Parts: sequence; C-alpha cells; structure tokens
Amino acid sequence: MAMIETIRWTDEGVVLMDQRKLPREETYLTCRSYREVAEAIRTMVIRGAPAIGVAAAMGVALGMLEADSGDPDAAFEQIVRTLAATRPTAVNLFWALERMRRVYREIRGQPLPLVRRRLIEEAERIKQEDLEVNRAMGRHGAALVPDGTIVLTHCNAGALATAGYGTALGVIRAAREAGKRIEVFACETRPFLQGARLTAWELVRDGIPTTLITDNMAGHFLKSGRIGCVIVGADRIAANGDVANKIGTYPLAVLARENGVPFYVAAPLSTLDLTLACGDLIPIEQRPAEEVTHVFGIRVAAEGVNVENPAFDVTPHRYVTAIITERGVARAPYAESLRRLAENPMGREPR
Ligand code: MRU
Repeated sequence: MAMIETIRWTDEGVVLMDQRKLPREETYLTCRSYREVAEAIRTMVIRGAPAIGVAAAMGVALGMLEADSGDPDAAFEQIVRTLAATRPTAVNLFWALERMRRVYREIRGQPLPLVRRRLIEEAERIKQEDLEVNRAMGRHGAALVPDGTIVLTHCNAGALATAGYGTALGVIRAAREAGKRIEVFACETRPFLQGARLTAWELVRDGIPTTLITDNMAGHFLKSGRIGCVIVGADRIAANGDVANKIGTYPLAVLARENGVPFYVAAPLSTLDLTLACGDLIPIEQRPAEEVTHVFGIRVAAEGVNVENPAFDVTPHRYVTAIITERGVARAPYAESLRRLAENPMGREPR
C-alpha cells in the first residue's frame, strides 16, 4: 500500500491532502502563499499536531519566497505571527516556527536566494525527521502491545496527522509489522469526525481490522474486557505529564483506569512543553459553534441553543500508564522521566 503523503513542498507551492474531504474524495490543495497555508491550518485542511508543525515550517519558507529584499526581517516576523495565530493548542506549531526562526537568525543578512534555499531545506528536514521519529516511536511502543490485542484509539494520530506513519497509529503499524495480530476500535470523534473519516480510512486502507464506534460507546467496550489498551496522540504535554489531546480523551483515560486498561500516549518530544508546569496552563482552542450544530452543512441542533466547542481536553498525568516517545518510554514520575528523555540526545532510554 502506497504511503499516505499528507504534505509536500513543490515548485508550485505547498501541496496538502485536503482532509476535510476524506474519505469521500482524495483531493489535494496547493497553497501558493503563506496566508493560504495559515488558512489551511485554521480550517483543518491539514490537522494533527506534527503535521501542523510541518505545514507551518513550509509556510514560513513559502512566505520568504514572496518577500522582497526591502525589509526581510519584518517580512519574516509577519509570516511567523500569521502562522502562529492559527491554532493555539498544538505546541508543535510553535516548536516548528521557533526552529525556522533559529535558522533565519543564523543566516539573516545574507543574499535572499540563499536564505530562501536554507529555509526550504529546514522545512523539508522537519518533515523528514518527523517520519523518522514516528518510526522510532513505533519501535518503542510496539513492545507494549501484546499479540492479539484490541487497541482503542481516539481522533486521528496517524499518517494524516504527521509527515507519515503516525504516532498512536505508528505504534499499531509497528506492532503489526512485528507480526502481531492487532485490531483497532476507533472512536468516531465528534464533532469533526477524525476517527470515522480519517482513522478508519487510513487503517482500512492498510488492511488493519478496524471497528468504528461512536464516542459514547467507549465505556461499554472498555468495561467488556475486550480492549487490551488505549493508545492516543497528544497536542501538548506539560512538564508534569498532563496531556492535552482531542476532546473526549480525558473521559477515555478515566474509564480505562476504572476498568484496569492501560492508557498510553504516543507523542514526539516536539509535543513536550517543559515551560508549562501542568496541564491547566495549556491553552485550549475553541472552535466554531457550527461544527457542533451542523453535520456536513445540515443543521442538527435546535435553533437558539447555546454551544461550547473546546477542541481539546487535558488528561491528568495520574491516568497515563506511559508516554511513548522517539527516545523511549516515559513512566511516572513524568516530571523526571520526560525531562531526562528531553535532555538525552543519545536516545538512550531512562533507567
Ligand atoms: O483538531 P485536530 O484534528 O488537529 O486534533 C488532532 C489530535 O488531537 C491528535 O490526537 C494529536 O494532534 C496528535 S496527532 C499525531
């Protein structure tokens, strides 16, 4: 099965698989300006924390192709500001922008064609590294999933949410590649239906046995004894191990604990935010009310009703059995294990 390519840099611009249209249509959108990239992130043409980071990096490179030689520093900052204002929760966005800024600072003042080439290279590198990181996470995580397990997952933490292979779905793919018989239960993930539309599409396409459930069925199945573990991705992990992920993750973690089911989070270290002591400090994106009141453009809610639409919730670290990263598996106490992994460039697992 050909690998899903979520995002690609081309001479025409940044090409994105349009995830709003999946699974009905497999179409691509070409962003020809950084403002179009920002709009694509905001409207969820591309989504998922690591993929948003790659898109932002490519958006910066694209923006500097548009910039003239008048005041490149001001142009750079304007581009970064626009991209940073798209989605507040996934820290990979800010991590990628910061990485692009570091490169820009090293080469600013040099001829613009050289600056542009270097920024394109850096964006491509961020994409390539994400792919490698996901494979490493898969290797570490696969060891936690016994043969014959049914894994429950939420939202989409797959190839579509990354440069490829996925985080949570990368662990599932790696376990399958190791010869284990793994099945997946995917929560549909209201209101944007990432589970039903994206995770189910990705897994069925790869021949991985997948069962779709509505979000309110999760407790029933976790209690049934059939689910071996829960694996989800993350948008931001605080220094103490509290995890922000798609709305609906927190109740899954509580239900998993209640029923003795391990709850794993798979996330690259670029999702770690050591500047935040705990999850209460993570900004939670509020999305438009229409995502709740309407389904595919058809109103399903009574007129006049109030709506809240937080896109993410925070799972307290005490519910997290382990956090799978590219440098190994972190366990409680997370304040120590995560810091050790973040500070350990050799990739050795902490003892
Ligand atoms: O709103 P989304 O679709 O961007 O939310 C995505 C998630 O919550 C994912 O679980 C998370 O970004 C990890 S993706 C590897």
